[in-house]
Amino acid sequence: MSDGADLFSEDDLARYRTELRAHGTVLLPPQTMFTPDELARIDLLESDIPEEEVRKGDAGDSHDVLVKRVRVAHPGCRPGNVNGAASAQIIELLERRQRLSTLGKIFGSASEYVIRRCQVHRMPPESFVGIHVDAESDPDFEFAVILQLARGFEGGEFVVYPTGRNPQVFRPTLGSVLITTCRFRHEVRPVRAGVRRSLVYFCSGYTGANRRIMNSPA
Ligand SMILES: [Fe+2]
Repeated sequence: MSDGADLFSEDDLARYRTELRAHGTVLLPPQTMFTPDELARIDLLESDIPEEEVRKGDAGDSHDVLVKRVRVAHPGCRPGNVNGAASAQIIELLERRQRLSTLGKIFGSASEYVIRRCQVHRMPPESFVGIHVDAESDPDFEFAVILQLARGFEGGEFVVYPTGRNPQVFRPTLGSVLITTCRFRHEVRPVRAGVRRSLVYFCSGYTGANRRIMNSPA
């Protein structure tokens, strides 16, 4: 991977930062944050990770999605990798200094960011992710970063519901990276055909244990 300064011009970084601040979401084009070789490597690594079916989100929301866990931070626990070497190598790729530094510039913060949770979502036809707020899973989630790993699917739009404004509908393409605040409600609409796959990770300036308070079973 090239130096962060080469991924985007300073003008582009400023434009993305402004868009993220103004709208809560920004879509970065394919082949900027991740090269085709890196996408192929992520595909290979994630194929080694076991999959679980998730029908209920952390906040009781309704999902139907297949999830491969890479890094988790359960309530009361600090973030930690799961599922062995494949996950560790995916995290190593994501945490390369230049990539985190580029994200930090787009987030618009001087603080160092860490990945608190990371997972792969596989969504065959009729899969969906119901409306939810990421920060309800972990109050320290600040931004979600979503890398699209598949092409050729239909449906599966990512819809954000910014507070007090019209919904935004995104149709991310292979290799694109969607960055969104963890404070807005959002969903992934049902996939109608093909298989949608994405790598999702949640970034924060906070490195400690998940401070979510569990009032009732989630
Ligand atoms: Fe989400």
